[in-house]
Amino acid sequence: MIHQSMRKLFFSLIYHFQKPRWDTNQTPPEVIEQFKQLPKYGHALDLGCGTGTNCIYMARLGWQVTGIDFIKKPIRKARKKAKQAGVAENTHFIHGDVTQLDQYQIPPTQFALDMGCLHGLSPQGRLDYAAGLNKILEPGAVYMILAFQPAESSGLNIGLTIEEIRALFGDHFCILKYEDDPKPQLWYWLKKKPCAV
Ligand SMILES: C[S@@+](CC[C@H](N)C(=O)[O-])C[C@H]1O[C@@H](n2cnc3c(N)ncnc32)[C@H](O)[C@@H]1O
Repeated sequence: MIHQSMRKLFFSLIYHFQKPRWDTNQTPPEVIEQFKQLPKYGHALDLGCGTGTNCIYMARLGWQVTGIDFIKKPIRKARKKAKQAGVAENTHFIHGDVTQLDQYQIPPTQFALDMGCLHGLSPQGRLDYAAGLNKILEPGAVYMILAFQPAESSGLNIGLTIEEIRALFGDHFCILKYEDDPKPQLWYWLKKKPCAV
């Protein structure tokens, strides 16, 4: 609970006082590549969507998209950006908590994206998030995670390992592939079982 309040305060302050360094207005090439292999339509979920850049990217491709973030300011900005981009009809932004996904009416989902959210949740938060996401994702859904590797020197309680991803998601997801490089942030590609779908 304290962890969650501190995180909320941390993100509120960053969004209030500066343009966060992650808020690049650019969809990463890994996501663009993935969408070349996905169906043309579906429902996508962006967990910790920030100002909605990737939601708008997916909506422009024709997907219905839900973005969720627990800070109001980026959610307001995401709605504005979606309107300006002409995809307000295809996007739905929830001011809410990714550890309480059961509370929202999120449609069955074929693609989920987490860039920088899961890796900062508390151990219980990660479990709640995984249980909620498991219920929303349809068989065969692809789920991409971008996460920091744990770094003891950072002083921040963030980071995720492939072992933790296996423990959190292994029962219900296959790990399609993952990066294993000496760089701070790594991508992971998962698929909801059965994986032949
Ligand atoms: C590093 S930022 C990345 C934002 C966005 N994915 C991007 O790449 O621009 C992480 C985001 O997760 C959100 N977040 C963190 N914990 C959350 C939670 N429990 N529920 C909802 N959003 C959360 C933060 O407010 C922040 O916008």
